Amino acid sequence: MKDIVNIGLIGFGTIGSGVVETLNRNLDLLENKVNKKVKLKKVVDLDIKTDRGVVISPGILSTDIDDILEDPDIDIVIELIGGYQPALKFILRAMENGKHVVTANKALIAKHWDELMISAQRNHVRICFEASVGGGIPLLQPLNECLAANHLESIYGIINGTANYILTKMSEESRNFEDVLKEAQEKGYAESDPTFDIEGDDSAQKLIILTIIGFGIYVKQEHFHVEGISHITQEDISFAKNELNSCIKLLAISKLVDGNLEIRVHPTIVPMDHLLSSVNGVFNGVYLVGDIVGPVMMYGPGAGMLPTASAVVGDCIDIIENREKPVLYGPAETSVRKISNINDLKSKYYLRLLTEDKPGVLHEISGILSEYNISIGSMIQKQENEGIPIFLVTHTALEMEMRAAVEKIDQLDCIKDKTIFIRVL
Ligand code: HSE
Repeated sequence: MKDIVNIGLIGFGTIGSGVVETLNRNLDLLENKVNKKVKLKKVVDLDIKTDRGVVISPGILSTDIDDILEDPDIDIVIELIGGYQPALKFILRAMENGKHVVTANKALIAKHWDELMISAQRNHVRICFEASVGGGIPLLQPLNECLAANHLESIYGIINGTANYILTKMSEESRNFEDVLKEAQEKGYAESDPTFDIEGDDSAQKLIILTIIGFGIYVKQEHFHVEGISHITQEDISFAKNELNSCIKLLAISKLVDGNLEIRVHPTIVPMDHLLSSVNGVFNGVYLVGDIVGPVMMYGPGAGMLPTASAVVGDCIDIIENREKPVLYGPAETSVRKISNINDLKSKYYLRLLTEDKPGVLHEISGILSEYNISIGSMIQKQENEGIPIFLVTHTALEMEMRAAVEKIDQLDCIKDKTIFIRVL
């Protein structure tokens, strides 16, 4: 093994600059730990002119990807350009050329798991992606190693900071969704096109990765239910807070129920006495239960320049220390048979209905719920100008029956807007 380890960094954006800054600040620490010299040999980006606010020797900047991929001295390639292509092409070429890979690219890992793991195995290199889920929170490595003695029972994650920031602000400042989203965009917390974060796709990709590591089962996004938070109103948040002593969180959930895997992303009413209720703002938290350890909660910054760089550089240290270790992951079991359909979910539900103010409305609604075996736990009706909002919480019901009941309720003449239902943890 060489006494010097050379790193090539592809992508000099926010996280890339964080990696450079981390190495500038803490290289001594890192070198002492691995007992080798570590050198950032090349940084490749299409734009090497913009000042990134970090100290870097101009000589290591390049726009030519071959300066990393074809340099036999480079041992570890860090990919931080994101997206599917050319990231996939670069990573595969790096591995074919015998280089270990570190990436934060959750979209790529979630979509191309088998191809990437097979290539790593074939080329006897490692691919590490701790930064792809939960930013700076140590999640994948602890799940794969420290918790390896457990059969995992469940994973509940708040793994999108943007959605969590919006829900937190809506709750703390009694503001509506659009208002908070606009502010989050102005402050740079939310993208100008926030769809990916607020509609649950980002959480879904991260959940796919958590589920492979935690349960060894690979589920494509099209095979599970993914629902975002754009339909959540201030009324829902207030009802959860004031009537149920709860909050609303966008949860990514994977759990075993009767031997089948339930996997889903959706807003969820979480009681204030659950640890996840304390995960606020842009922070992320993952609560999991193992059969030996019991409940474990991991919490921290789920995004950002330095927190994400911390995970990326941590992966580099792991690779340098454990280079001879066999490849950690292989192609995962892809089994649709074992995946529960959302229709089979059993849950309590909160419903928000907007109805006309006339006799018999409640009778009609409760009649339909009862037709679908749905029992009402509590109900509040409010007098307002534009129709009457009714808030219901049901006892445990079957999702298939809940959906059918809501579809039928929404066809009633007295219903003035689409009924919203939110699952209760
Ligand atoms: N967009 C993500 C979030 C961060 O809001 O949490 C990157 O994974």
